[in-house]
Amino acid sequence: MPLLPGLDILAAARAGGYGVGAFNTNDMEITQAILQAAEAKRSPVLIALSEGALKYGGDILPKLVVEMARDASVPVALHLDHGSSFASCLRAIRLGFTSVMIDMSHEEEAVNVRETARVVEAAHAVGVTVEAEIGRLGGVEEHVVVAEEDAILTKPEEAERFMEQSGADYLAVAIGTSHGANKGKGRPYIDHERIVEIARRIPNPLVMHGASGVPADVVARLNAAGGELADASGIHEDDVRKAVTEGIAKINTDTDLRLAFTTRVREVLRDDPKQFDPRKILGPAREEMQRIVEERMDVFGSSGRA
Ligand code: 13P
Repeated sequence: MPLLPGLDILAAARAGGYGVGAFNTNDMEITQAILQAAEAKRSPVLIALSEGALKYGGDILPKLVVEMARDASVPVALHLDHGSSFASCLRAIRLGFTSVMIDMSHEEEAVNVRETARVVEAAHAVGVTVEAEIGRLGGVEEHVVVAEEDAILTKPEEAERFMEQSGADYLAVAIGTSHGANKGKGRPYIDHERIVEIARRIPNPLVMHGASGVPADVVARLNAAGGELADASGIHEDDVRKAVTEGIAKINTDTDLRLAFTTRVREVLRDDPKQFDPRKILGPAREEMQRIVEERMDVFGSSGRA
């Protein structure tokens, strides 16, 4: 089926009280893992490409993803993750994306409103829907590094005003998560009351960035196979489940796929040092990523919704 605008998938999720994953891809194998998981779980899905992914793969990468997603029998949207400018969003739309994020969260509110509104006008004219962000997550974003002490949680009244003025379709909120594999010591604190208050004011789907679980068993396997990942921590599954009941409809996951990929590649090369066939190395990594995506779909509640 043709790709759907992101909002079609996310509005249904918010209304239905479930979350949908936006999984980042960088190549064919990751895309196959995401799509095969969505088919196996009968789940809608967003496939996300960042500007970094576009730089890595070039224009052929989104074309490949669009072709692959067209064959899916479940609802799929192609999403630009952390678009840094109007031009970047327009370029993505031209390449076939059906959902774009304009991330001006590091700018003053007036600039964020103005630039988001520009993207909304252009995107809506061609049936593409728009994510914006207000507040500031900690960790490494695609084009900005934000120290944990500079993170700013989203203020509910600001979020309400921002959505009215910008016309964005879904909103990324800073509620305690951060990007990457080190989300804080122990179980990172998620501000559930804040999600509830924002959702009370805004009917639009809310977006949780930095939602990876960073599974301890996968990290242990990675390190046992020669990896050196210290102080790894992710968002607890129960916090994600609760956040979904509170109004989070789009859940971004990148780190968990990176961990699954690297863990399996390391294991294969450790266990079979004579191996040099890329298919025997990337194939098992693809299976591991599919397993992780399927687990996430069960946690989000999107399994069986397609
Ligand atoms: P993670 O680093 O937790 O996977 O988050 C990814 C993300 O939010 C991409 O926008």
